Amino acid sequence: MASSYSLKPLHSIPDLIPACIKTLKNEWPQCKAELLPKLVKQELTTAPCSYGLVRHSDDTHDKDTLVGHFRLIPVINRERALYAESLCVDKLQRGRGQSAMLIPLMEEFFVKMGYAELYLLTSSHQKDHYLRNSFTICDDLPHTLGANLLRTGTALGNHEYIHSWHGNVLYPGWESEYEGGAIATQKETADHECIGVWVVCYLHRRLAKL
Ligand SMILES: CC(C)(COP(=O)(O)OP(=O)(O)OC[C@H]1O[C@@H](n2cnc3c(N)ncnc32)[C@H](O)[C@@H]1OP(=O)(O)O)[C@@H](O)C(=O)NCCC(=O)NCCS
Repeated sequence: MASSYSLKPLHSIPDLIPACIKTLKNEWPQCKAELLPKLVKQELTTAPCSYGLVRHSDDTHDKDTLVGHFRLIPVINRERALYAESLCVDKLQRGRGQSAMLIPLMEEFFVKMGYAELYLLTSSHQKDHYLRNSFTICDDLPHTLGANLLRTGTALGNHEYIHSWHGNVLYPGWESEYEGGAIATQKETADHECIGVWVVCYLHRRLAKL
């Protein structure tokens, strides 16, 4: 049966929020995905905003299903830039090209919203997946507003749990949710061993090639 996909703000798909929490908890058991129902009530469609990747079956009897999640975070030191965090394809649905399909969908969507740069933070063993999908390593670190509220960022290597990092402003009104853990310094933030590898996609450049 053929399917189509779309990106939906989570507040517009309340029936799929439990599936989204499950997807995030399966990947990051320590995360605070249970904040989502309360969090999304105050969100619009612009950043910060949690999104679901939704599969729609051509068979009208089938319900929509949640394939993945990402959370859009404003980048405050660059014009028309966004950070997508907690990007996750459901564990049971991986390796079928859905992330490779999600990335162009996100790019088109963000260009329509007026954005020019998309940042991701990934692990050194996942980075090649993104380098094969139109991202490049980024050394000019983005400063973000409200990143890692859901605690999906895990400290790498022997580092202690990091709840925030240099250049990230805690999400206003939700500061108490960040308790515990350290704040990575500028050096640690730039160090790929500590919180991960920053990659960036220049959206217009990539779309111009299509
Ligand atoms: C990273 C992640 C999003 C990839 O999702 P995915 O849906 O499995 O990705 P894809 O299926 O598009 O690609 C995965 C691999 O499967 C391969 N693949 C693509 N289509 C395929 C198909 N039809 N059949 C089998 N394999 C396929 C791809 O070549 C790809 O290989 P690569 O990683 O070496 O490029 C997913 O593993 C995930 O959610 N990880 C945990 C969270 C995480 O680390 N997020 C990154 C933070 S930015």
